[in-house]
Amino acid sequence: MTDTGHPRTTAAAHRRAALARAGGAALAAAALVLGAVAAPPAATAATAASTDYQAEDAVLAQAKTATNHTGYTGTGFVDYTNTTGSAVEFTVSATAAATASLAFRYANAGTANRPMDIAVNGKVVAAGVAFPPTADWDTWAEKTVGVALAAGANRIRATATTADGGPNLDRLRVGAAADTTPPSRPGAPSCSAVGPNALTLGWGAAGDDVGVTAYDIYEHGNKLAEAPGTATSRQLTGLAPATTYNLTVIARDASGNASPASVAVDCTTTAGTDPAPGRPGTPTVSAVTPTGATLTWGAATDDKGVVGYEIRSGSAVVKSVTGTPPATSAAVTGLACDAPFTLSVVARDTAGNYSAPSDPVSFTTGACPADGGVPGSPSALSTGWTIPWGIAWLPDGTTSLVTERDSFKVFRLTTGGAKAVVGTVPNAVTTDGEGGLLGIAVDPDWAANHYVYLMHTAAEGNRIVRMTYNGSTLSGYKVLLQGIKKNRYHNGGRLAFGPDGYLYASTGDAQTSSLAQDKNSLNGKILRLTTDGKPAPGNPFGNYVYSYGHRNPQGLAFDRDGRLWEAEFGDSKRDELNLVKPGANYGWPTCEGTCGVAGMTDPKASWPVNEASPSGIAIVRNVVYMAALRGERMWRIPIDGNTENVGTPTAYYVGAYGRLRTVSKVPGADRLWLTTTNADNNGGAADGADKVFTISIG
Ligand code: GCU
Ligand code: CA
Repeated sequence: MTDTGHPRTTAAAHRRAALARAGGAALAAAALVLGAVAAPPAATAATAASTDYQAEDAVLAQAKTATNHTGYTGTGFVDYTNTTGSAVEFTVSATAAATASLAFRYANAGTANRPMDIAVNGKVVAAGVAFPPTADWDTWAEKTVGVALAAGANRIRATATTADGGPNLDRLRVGAAADTTPPSRPGAPSCSAVGPNALTLGWGAAGDDVGVTAYDIYEHGNKLAEAPGTATSRQLTGLAPATTYNLTVIARDASGNASPASVAVDCTTTAGTDPAPGRPGTPTVSAVTPTGATLTWGAATDDKGVVGYEIRSGSAVVKSVTGTPPATSAAVTGLACDAPFTLSVVARDTAGNYSAPSDPVSFTTGACPADGGVPGSPSALSTGWTIPWGIAWLPDGTTSLVTERDSFKVFRLTTGGAKAVVGTVPNAVTTDGEGGLLGIAVDPDWAANHYVYLMHTAAEGNRIVRMTYNGSTLSGYKVLLQGIKKNRYHNGGRLAFGPDGYLYASTGDAQTSSLAQDKNSLNGKILRLTTDGKPAPGNPFGNYVYSYGHRNPQGLAFDRDGRLWEAEFGDSKRDELNLVKPGANYGWPTCEGTCGVAGMTDPKASWPVNEASPSGIAIVRNVVYMAALRGERMWRIPIDGNTENVGTPTAYYVGAYGRLRTVSKVPGADRLWLTTTNADNNGGAADGADKVFTISIG
């Protein structure tokens, strides 16, 4: 139980570099024209983006047609004989050689995945494609693989590879391969017709294999306007006088692929003739709490009227108030406790002119609440689990969603201990190691949009996806980000929303340690993305990457000051607890633990791998609680006041409950949940041996 790695603290400012590059690789079908084949029954029109082939019309080997379950399309489905080698062969015709996507519609209410080999013209092109369980034999799912088709007839054969045989197969839908080619970089932009409130931006057209559908115009990381794909100029209006705009143009295609950003151009609007508002009256402070205060100030005057106020700390905007006229009082929230603040107020008019700042007002937020307490004895809230991995809470504060790594199921678990399956995540596969269904996060606006986010391993790698949880079941499936490499081990997998409303994800190095230092790789990173799967604005390198040099991070949590902490597995020497700053390099594979190499950030604490091997972390009132797998213990690590240091870690439950995976704060209660991973290859316990414990920290 050592505490090492004591930190040299640098109070580095939280830099939010604003870059205008959007990445993104949304996928959609286009381009491939499928021939009208020897009359495939129920085929869609020859011009449609896809063509359907019913399994009951295909050539069957050790399989029979059936109708004893509902929900099939066409006149039935195919029931594979439960034996290795049972097969269904479709004949698909293409007008020209091209890549295509094959979507197999299937049901599998068996207890296990029923992998099949997919062959094209006698050659296996996708071996052991997973057909994981669906909820029952009436629930159909789609499994998609990309293949190359030859011109003319193609024999597509799906052959069972295990004694369970294949799943029930309803249909093969053949579509165009996804368009993954982004448009080229637009030509350098330039400004003309520059006035006080408007200018015209022109640029060189971008090219694309399918076609440019739109140009997005960015001012630093913020989208200002868009223009249709046929345009090469756009008037920008509503600008502020005498202001410099740093403008770039990004082209996108119909599939949402974004081009590299054009070079930037700085254009300065001319001075306006509209006079700026007068200064607001000196603010007063009331209702000071540990995390906020209310400011009230004197109204500013303007010839045409004030339309907004900004409460600022230096030049940083802490709070905006709008209205006609805007209120002259506002509550500022989300401040650090026991910390000094000096704030002033500026007024803004319709032309976007700002007043000089008011006189400042200074105050100190209230005392910080007592640190998170010492954990008491765990009591088992829920049993019968097999590797529960991610936990996320719904806004009611009593209902959580919990993922199981290897079953790909998502459960609802309440603080009262009620447990129910709400769905299975499609396309999830295991790696016979650390991959599978991993982290989960609930949208901060779940009450309105019902979105949940999941990270899972899929055929091509690890993915971050969005599904809908309507309060009882999970549905829908949208890939937000794929192309995160997978391997048997080191898949990362934790998801967490930041106080900024962006989604943070931890990715492993996929056992290729050099990826961790490659800023253009998605592996060995903390990623930061929007809820639509785009790189979050202001990311330090203009892509998804937020920090790098990580080996296998599985713990992510934000503290009361909005700072991000992360726990990761070391290789053979030291595990790490890091305070994550944008753009920082955490050293892997050059170092494990404290290394003191220039340009690399040391951990705040580190442990020998046999004392930790940490997965999840939770932070409660300035204390980090960290679940350890190999160390079979939970660490309590106090953050030192409002500093960036930590105090001495203390270990709890050493060896008492086996391997500990995830720790989560129960909302609104002085309580943690703690889960085990004993039913994995390392723990060796039977399926169902894992538990969710509840622990008082009052
Ligand atoms: C059940 C089910 C069949 C299915 C079979 C199987 O018998 O009704 O539709 O094909 O299980 O396990 O393969
Ligand atoms: Ca069968």
